[in-house]
Amino acid sequence: CGIVGYVGKHQVTDAKDIIIDGLKKLEYRGYDSAGIALNTGDRLEIRKHVGRIENLEKLIKGETLNSHIGIGHTRWATHGAPSDLNAHPHCNADGSIAVVHNGIIENYVEIKEWLTKEYGVQFKSETDTEVIAHLIGIYYDGDLEDAVFKAVTKMRGAYAIGVVAAAEPDKIVAVRKDAPLIAGLGEGCNFIASDIPALLKHVREIYLIENNETVVVTADDVKIYNEARKQVKREVFHVTWDAEAAEKEGYDHFMLKEIHEQPKGLYETLNRRIEKDGSIKLDGIHLTKEDIENFNKVFIVACGTAYHAGLVGKFILENLAKIPVEIDVASEFRYRDPFVDDKTLFIAISQSGETLDTLAALREAKRKGARILSVVNVVGSSVARESDDVFYTWAGPEIAVASTKAYTTQLMCMYLIGLYMGRKKGVVSDEKYAQYMSELKQIPDKLANLLEGESAIHDLAKELYKREQVFFIGRGADVGVSYEGSLKLKEISYINSFAIAAGELKHGTIALIEKDTLVIALATQDKLYEKMLSNIQEVKARGAYVIGVAKEGNKEIEKQADRVIYIPDCMDEVSPFLSVVPLQILAYYIAKERGCDIDKPKNLAKSVTVE
Ligand code: G6P
Repeated sequence: CGIVGYVGKHQVTDAKDIIIDGLKKLEYRGYDSAGIALNTGDRLEIRKHVGRIENLEKLIKGETLNSHIGIGHTRWATHGAPSDLNAHPHCNADGSIAVVHNGIIENYVEIKEWLTKEYGVQFKSETDTEVIAHLIGIYYDGDLEDAVFKAVTKMRGAYAIGVVAAAEPDKIVAVRKDAPLIAGLGEGCNFIASDIPALLKHVREIYLIENNETVVVTADDVKIYNEARKQVKREVFHVTWDAEAAEKEGYDHFMLKEIHEQPKGLYETLNRRIEKDGSIKLDGIHLTKEDIENFNKVFIVACGTAYHAGLVGKFILENLAKIPVEIDVASEFRYRDPFVDDKTLFIAISQSGETLDTLAALREAKRKGARILSVVNVVGSSVARESDDVFYTWAGPEIAVASTKAYTTQLMCMYLIGLYMGRKKGVVSDEKYAQYMSELKQIPDKLANLLEGESAIHDLAKELYKREQVFFIGRGADVGVSYEGSLKLKEISYINSFAIAAGELKHGTIALIEKDTLVIALATQDKLYEKMLSNIQEVKARGAYVIGVAKEGNKEIEKQADRVIYIPDCMDEVSPFLSVVPLQILAYYIAKERGCDIDKPKNLAKSVTVE
């Protein structure tokens, strides 16, 4: 979910527009419903609607809702189905307090029972959020700050909340606990929000709110308090990236724009890290030779696409840094008592840096003594702030829910970390280092060439878009890419897609291959090329329709596969950068042909801040 709050000095007609505009920039955090609470002088006007923010806009179009203060919300449903009633803001019994909330109140059932029994509160929605509004309402006697402080002591879970009271038309009180929250510093007005893009149109100076802090925002002032209600000082954070970067720039969708931004993102991620003498400078990473030699294991933990970058990362690190690498999805890592200690290097990979599963896993690893290194795209995000070392991907803001440029820049970071560690350990020779560097430096241009062949893949998509089932197979470094290609396709086109290591196919999954089943076979690894050709034959023998992905130099595949997508020749170890891109483009055009909502697929959110 995403929250936005605005407080200015004068009654203006556009307070609602400012808030709605901010919410639109947060739609990547969920878009099941949207709502707004405006203080119109003596009372709170609440408007909310299921579905996208444009539904809310239509609802209030033509209404004059003059206000200088309000809060808004865009929801990704956790407790209670997406509906008008479950949409935020939620209010207390007499509608004098309104709350927007991102996160989950774990003990809401307990609080609900208590409020019903002791105060006879009647609940209108199925949400956990409504208990917050009633709690604050019960403690409220003219001092919103005080009531919020008291309510928070009863709440367990992860949340960021924004609260307004009808009787205090000059302030918003907001609290952060394990969910992102920032305050924006304007002129004669101030803001709260879940993330920076929501405020970029209006402010460049922000405060990053820390966990367990409460922030009281008025038109003239932003005051931050810690858990003990002591005021704390915060340095102003200056945002340097521009709002333009977050717009579509003529592309039909953010996803296509972001696919095309990959050569630039990779160039930046790599070249900002190479010194004049050719050595790697890992800004933000302070691992010494001794630190690196002390590690006996690396643990990579992430979710979704970032996890798939980790699958390739395991390959890279084992090859370059000669160290055993375990990998897990964050939601599993935390609850299985993994073997992690002070000899473990824990690498968290996250585009947003706000994924709660990843953050929780990171904290667990930290508690067990691991050194925490994160690979993150969003500067100043929670994962970045809680890590010992941070390595930023220079992908720029990624808006489409389906991740593309974050994935390839995450891969680049893994190579750089692998090479850095391998050099420090003395296990990467000068020759090997030079070879890798030369291959990596060529990637942005090769990728740009590959993108020029986009229309051929579009044509292929036109042939394939009616399929309802697809299998992706690959070996070695291609396995991780198969997983990512499959995820891209299923998440935006809703085609049932499945990825499996090609050698594993015969142990069960091949039972599903029949006449005309679509199989996308990645065969970019020279070492495993012949083995892959055999796997292609196995599925062909069962009637499959095979699209091969191979390096330009390997034409043999044309004899086996029905169609072939070629990628530029490169060293096996760096092929994932190039093989994933045709799969991203194929997924994009298939989804487009199917008329899907590509940037905002159903049921998903870009940043999932609940466990
Ligand atoms: C969500 C998004 C995915 C993303 C995953 C991890 O599920 O829909 O695209 O890969 O979260 O996000 P992160 O920001 O941690 O990389």
